[in-house]
Amino acid sequence: MTVQFIRGEVISFKDDPFLCGSESAIVHEEDGLICIEDGKIKAFGSYSEIKGMIPADASITHYKDSIICPGFIDGHVHYPQIQMIGAFGEHLLDWLNKYTFPTESNFADKSYADDVAKRFLKKLIGAGTTTAAVYCTVHPQSVDAFFEESSRWNTRMVAGKVLMDRNAPEWLLDTAQSAYDDSKRLAGKWHHAGRQLYCVTPRFAPSCSDEQLELAGQLLKEQTDQPLFMQTHLDENVDEIAWVKQLFPGSKNYLDVYDKAGLVGPRSIFGHGVHCDEDEFHVLHEKGAGICHCPTSNNFLGSGLFKAFVAKDEKRPVRVGLGTDLGAGTSFSQLSTLNEAYKVSELNNTKLDAVHAFYLATRGGAELLYLEDTIGSIAPGMEADITVLDCGHDEFTQWRMGYANDLNERLFILMCLGNERNVKSTYVYGRCVYDRDRAEPFQYP
Ligand code: GUN
Ligand code: ZN
Repeated sequence: MTVQFIRGEVISFKDDPFLCGSESAIVHEEDGLICIEDGKIKAFGSYSEIKGMIPADASITHYKDSIICPGFIDGHVHYPQIQMIGAFGEHLLDWLNKYTFPTESNFADKSYADDVAKRFLKKLIGAGTTTAAVYCTVHPQSVDAFFEESSRWNTRMVAGKVLMDRNAPEWLLDTAQSAYDDSKRLAGKWHHAGRQLYCVTPRFAPSCSDEQLELAGQLLKEQTDQPLFMQTHLDENVDEIAWVKQLFPGSKNYLDVYDKAGLVGPRSIFGHGVHCDEDEFHVLHEKGAGICHCPTSNNFLGSGLFKAFVAKDEKRPVRVGLGTDLGAGTSFSQLSTLNEAYKVSELNNTKLDAVHAFYLATRGGAELLYLEDTIGSIAPGMEADITVLDCGHDEFTQWRMGYANDLNERLFILMCLGNERNVKSTYVYGRCVYDRDRAEPFQYP
């Protein structure tokens, strides 16, 4: 049994600020103490109140001039696309054909996939992200490569093999049956293997036949004891939506294509949802499914402005998390992603304050994944995935921060000026696997 203590200023969330307001949602300890035992948070409170539980010989790591928060959760990201971040000049459908499909074909080679998975997880952890919902490629070995590396870090990850049996180059297609068989086998191997979780991953409706979507739905239905996750893309781009209408004339809207196949329910994560209509929001709410907001990607591909406050309408609130959507997204950092989310909210004539923003990157992501009792906040019983943010790398940001009047202003400056360089340390299941200032910053647990 190992017990350790982390002391410093801590923020966390106990509720959804979109629904109950910022004040009631946030937990803030100016001088907090977190007690971690065997990977989980055993106690959390103000240092003065709970310091009595510290044994005389205990180790305490005290982070000064920092903000300690739950590890970030990236609700939508493609690890195989990190070699093509910043590919110039196309909107979604041409971008897929010109850059994405050729890049993903490299993952037929397991050793290539191993190398990219290693790079990806280091970058993610270095950005303070401890959980992500990850698209692999159509190749089963890309899934093994990813989960093998995630198991080495002991990160809680949700991932799956991409299903695509049409409308892409021949050499990148599976079949409805092989996709079902491979997904079932991979889920048997990886779902709840340690902290790993399996996600059935139809790429998007245009790349999946009716039969493939049906079989994906069947796989979800078969697995009831430990339900699988489901992720796909929804309402990202207007040309994509028009194409879906053509391909599925019998469906009343884009979401309905997935709904008919049994793919809309709890643990269904829909990337983007930029152009969702009221009917779709209503069904997402009713069925308990969620949307992942991917602002850097939506801006990069010119896809449009996701209306987070409409999605969160208190009459039928939809679960919403925050995603980088690399490699259409342009940053591994959830701070940079929030910076972009703020600008999107301004263009929508709404106000995404720092509390709403940090909620989206932490507990909001956990709620999207139905893991809010496991990760995404700092509270007793939670898995100890923790990120320590500071301005230590940057004299200018430190100086700017000196003019902040309160916590909200400091968090807002962090998300507007900050990025992965503001991540001092990342804890995964209670182990400090990344420390920016250590001789060897990254260490497997
Ligand atoms: N829609 C289908 N595939 C993709 C993808 O790889 N990235 C994005 N952003 N949208 C998609
Ligand atoms: Zn995506």
